[in-house]
Amino acid sequence: MSKSSSTITSGVTDAPQTALSPVEENEARFAVESWADGFFAINARGNMTVRPDRCAGREVDLLEIVDGVRERGYSTPLLLHFGDVLETVLGDLRQAFDDAIRQHDYRGAYRGVYPIKVNQQRSVVEDVGRISGGMGFGFEVGSKPELLAVLAMTVEQPDRLVVCNGFKEDRYIEFAMLATKLGRMIVPVIENLEELELVLRHAERFDVRPRIGIRVNLNVQGAGRWASSSGVKAKFGLTLAEVLQAVDLLRDRGMLDCLQLLHCHMGSQMNDIRQVAAGVGELTRIHAELHRLGASVEFIDVGGGLGVDYDGSQANSAFSRNYSLEEYASTVVHRIQSICDERNVPHPNIVTESGRAMVAQQSVLVFDVLGANRFEPHRIPEDLEGLRGRDGEEPARPLVDLFDAWRRMDAENLLECWHDAESARAEAVNLFTLGYMSLEHRAEVERIFWTLALRARELATSLDPVPEELAELDDLLTDVYFCNLSVFQSLPDCWAIEQVFPIMPIHRLDETPARRGTLADLTCDSDGKVDRFIDREDVKRWLPLHELEAGRRYLLGAFLVGAYQETLGDLHNLFGDTHVAHVRVDDSGKWWIEEIVEGDTVREVLAYMQYDPTLLARAIRRECEGSVHRGSMTARESREMVLAFETGLAGYTYLEPDPV
Ligand SMILES: Cc1ncc(COP(=O)(O)O)c(C=O)c1O
Repeated sequence: MSKSSSTITSGVTDAPQTALSPVEENEARFAVESWADGFFAINARGNMTVRPDRCAGREVDLLEIVDGVRERGYSTPLLLHFGDVLETVLGDLRQAFDDAIRQHDYRGAYRGVYPIKVNQQRSVVEDVGRISGGMGFGFEVGSKPELLAVLAMTVEQPDRLVVCNGFKEDRYIEFAMLATKLGRMIVPVIENLEELELVLRHAERFDVRPRIGIRVNLNVQGAGRWASSSGVKAKFGLTLAEVLQAVDLLRDRGMLDCLQLLHCHMGSQMNDIRQVAAGVGELTRIHAELHRLGASVEFIDVGGGLGVDYDGSQANSAFSRNYSLEEYASTVVHRIQSICDERNVPHPNIVTESGRAMVAQQSVLVFDVLGANRFEPHRIPEDLEGLRGRDGEEPARPLVDLFDAWRRMDAENLLECWHDAESARAEAVNLFTLGYMSLEHRAEVERIFWTLALRARELATSLDPVPEELAELDDLLTDVYFCNLSVFQSLPDCWAIEQVFPIMPIHRLDETPARRGTLADLTCDSDGKVDRFIDREDVKRWLPLHELEAGRRYLLGAFLVGAYQETLGDLHNLFGDTHVAHVRVDDSGKWWIEEIVEGDTVREVLAYMQYDPTLLARAIRRECEGSVHRGSMTARESREMVLAFETGLAGYTYLEPDPV
């Protein structure tokens, strides 16, 4: 289906103007084609599918996979990693730079490195390593533990470029120098001049000729939420004066040839290609000047920042990017080339540290809905008589006014009646607080007010334009769907930085979703919710959702969640890591499970928090014995209690509504 074949934007009430099937309507309603980048679609059965190489022929059904994982004993919430999607994305990145290099007749090479902080799960880093080796990708690390992990995972792979960022002390630099002795291509990137002294000291100590990088603090400020990653107030990097000091120091030591990499990082999720062009331009100017000063730096590292189009709008906005991968690669290559040619400087090899854009698409979080709080109309009395209280007391004035607004309201006087209703409710709240209204009348006010609000929203759809105050009812009158997940663990950026992800049902997409809802998680925290959803360039405050049906499960998927989510999550309310299934798809389009990494058990999360589960079980057993002794519990009941406690300790931290 082409993007122009439907006029549906986002709302459940948006009427299709062409005769679309329910599946096509849902494709448009959830803007699947815009954000999925060809990797996700809806099949004729109304289930979400994954297309690892964007071809309909090699497509797998998400619901079938979730069922398959459940049959193996693992329930939702579940994080699915698709290594084959990752392979396509990495291939695209390599291809985009190869094409740009060819088109611009660029004489340097391209080397991508994967910053493991973006998703440092062992299985993900292994996948990146396995897939990307042949593509010439290396790794970027930002701490000593990350360096140790990468060193051990790249044994006997001397060609892997390893870029070491972050604050460094002796130990960190010792590892880097010793790894150089092992023949590794490892580049510690100097973030401040003390680090340079350390590198020189340890290089001398181990008698190695180190590869050294320097991170410069660009004047160009990145865009968006991570703008402060660059610019004069950036946390990392040398000022230009310090760069010159570093060059002088290296020259004095006869080690200027060791300066092999010039690095910057302008920020994550760069939305605007002009910002990328400006930053790369400034970095290349510095590169050309260093060349003039005698340093022929081999690698120019433009850092991370390649954006992900989370909302599919292709816009210069927080959750999107106004450029394609090809434009990004071409901009980087062309900017470097044009400045180097102008200054007669050899073309350096280009390094990118894109992380988000490498791993976001490969992961889908699937979680189940446990129930919902719904906004429903109430039965309203026919006349004022029906408003009398239990003891026959007269309704107070605000209740009468509200009832009057309810009876009068039609499409012509809609806004006026809505204002009257709001005033009447506010007065009723005051009266009740002052003790002049009974609880029954106060409750009646709520029933009438919300029923009136539902009716007002319905009548407002016939208005053009819809007055702003009435349009806001869309956001107000939404159901709350309770979901078996922790936002803090699995979607922390929804809470921390108001990130939006494509979220939608993964099945029943051959049915029209009749409800509008927001999502609430399992934690006892009012921030544990998702109430911002993609809506092209905008953010929508509700999601089209299906009516829940008794005995029928309802599964939602959060897409593009492979970067900076589960690994940044925390143990709020002691909800732990979810199960992670690594799913592969063979050439014939059959899926299989490469590995399941089990989520945390209750025992494990308690142990993280320094509880000793064995002592806890012992304490419960002791209390049970006391109860048996006092006669308030039978021995059999005590056995059940102890067994339940121990089973609980061994279980998943999330709800397991239907044991498998
Ligand atoms: C130095 C450095 N390189 C690379 C990255 C990865 O950025 P992104 O995931 O936006 O590509 C980061 C992230 O902040 C970073 O700090």
